[in-house]
Amino acid sequence: MTVDSDEIVIDVHLTTQDPAVVREEIRNGLLSSPRVLPTKYLYDDRGTELFEQICKLPEYYQTRTEFQILATYADRIVACSNANELVELGSGAATKTRVLLDAMDRADQLNYYVPFDVSEGIVRRVSQELSEEYTDLHIHGVVGDFLAHLEHIPDGGKRLVVFLGGTIGNLDDVVGPAFLSSVNEEMASGDYFLLSVQFVTEVNRLEAAYNDSKGVTAEFNKNMISVMQKLVRADFDPDAFDHVARYNHADSRIEIFLRSNKRQTVMFQDLDLKLALEEGEEIRTEISTKYDRKRVEHLLANAKFELVEWYADSEELLGLALAKKP
Ligand code: SAH
Ligand code: AVI
Repeated sequence: MTVDSDEIVIDVHLTTQDPAVVREEIRNGLLSSPRVLPTKYLYDDRGTELFEQICKLPEYYQTRTEFQILATYADRIVACSNANELVELGSGAATKTRVLLDAMDRADQLNYYVPFDVSEGIVRRVSQELSEEYTDLHIHGVVGDFLAHLEHIPDGGKRLVVFLGGTIGNLDDVVGPAFLSSVNEEMASGDYFLLSVQFVTEVNRLEAAYNDSKGVTAEFNKNMISVMQKLVRADFDPDAFDHVARYNHADSRIEIFLRSNKRQTVMFQDLDLKLALEEGEEIRTEISTKYDRKRVEHLLANAKFELVEWYADSEELLGLALAKKP
């Protein structure tokens, strides 16, 4: 635990500090079918910076849509939840979070904020920024993997737990439901949960959001290569891979890959692995599932949440489900 000031405490629980766990996870992914790399490694300091740029791109409609929905319903969400503590999973730059913090402040309910993210740099930056922006706000940051460290969410007051950006879509059909059940288990009866989901929409719009004209998403995806160079000493050449993002209709999801543009062998020194890749062979780095309301209702019910209210934009691009732990 680090105590940064009277108002800020940061706890660090990173599995990336245990090299054996990291190696095992990466090795298993690369040798599985399809080949995958864990999405969380996209978010080192550079990846987080690139994701912030993605959020401002004209093609990436998700962030501005969610911002509008939050701006419309924040007071209502805060009134319903009666929370004095905001816990945010995958908090990132917490840009939209300010809308909720402002609403809590207006309602005189703002006491605690818990940013929880795998990226240590962003948790520290956001904690500092918010403690300067909101007087008397206590911040307890958690640097960890939300798939492994949820029990480290500090005990607190009446909580509103939020999972924004549609990040649930980055977890697959097995991991996502298990994650939601774990979130529920960590909450107290009467606490509220705000879940954001991206809806299925036209394929062209979806594919454009992940193939932007400036190439920022391609750079974000290729950043995985430099993370692997540092993390497991891979002699991965970024020029030997192309960014590919396409919609998979059967699974209602965008899938993002690094596609080998030649026949090559990549040496992962720390894994003692020589990976032979054919030209055109792909390594999946991310999925981004798009939902409809029924599917989300099932997800929440299976994780033992009671749906309280639904909010969406007029084009039904993005939805926010406000749920309660009974
Ligand atoms: N909530 C923000 C950021 C979304 S980007 C928004 O809506 O804009 C997804 C965030 O989740 C990133 O900040 C990333 O670092 C974090 N993240 C991804 N996988 C994670 C994991 N396994 N554990 C904790 N945080 C994770
Ligand atoms: C964080 N997450 C919800 C984003 C998404 O849309 O799936 C990540 C992203 N990857 C590329 N662009 C955005």
